[in-house]
Amino acid sequence: MSAASIRPYCVRPCTVVVCRGCCCGNVRKYPAIDHRWQLDRLCAAAADSGGRLAVRTSDCLGPCGQANVMVIQPSSDGRRRGGRSTWIGWAMDDACTDDILAWVAAGGPGIAEPPATLALQLVRPQRAARSGGRRRA
Ligand code: FES
Repeated sequence: MSAASIRPYCVRPCTVVVCRGCCCGNVRKYPAIDHRWQLDRLCAAAADSGGRLAVRTSDCLGPCGQANVMVIQPSSDGRRRGGRSTWIGWAMDDACTDDILAWVAAGGPGIAEPPATLALQLVRPQRAARSGGRRRA
């Protein structure tokens, strides 16, 4: 194995966490939205990114009333520059998905500002999710 093929542990790509819990991505609750197409688009972008973008799904992240919810996690470089996980609500239509893809292609949190229309959809992180889903006794 050459040294060039070893990827340091500390290099993490910008990651889009796509909520697919009880409400987000639910075709019975939001039948006019092609949720599968949305996830396919994001996964295709990740596959074409050369490792600069990762996509994963999650169970309910908390703010179901703002479905579909996605969290954009900064890359290692973005985090070093002060970027933090950014929550996006009402991420339903193609325009929003376009904005998310444009933002992560530009570097995501810590590296680039979100598109102005996407900035209107930022939501506050849920307390339980911020603490890793643990609840206090
Ligand atoms: S199902 Fe997405 S926030 Fe609850």
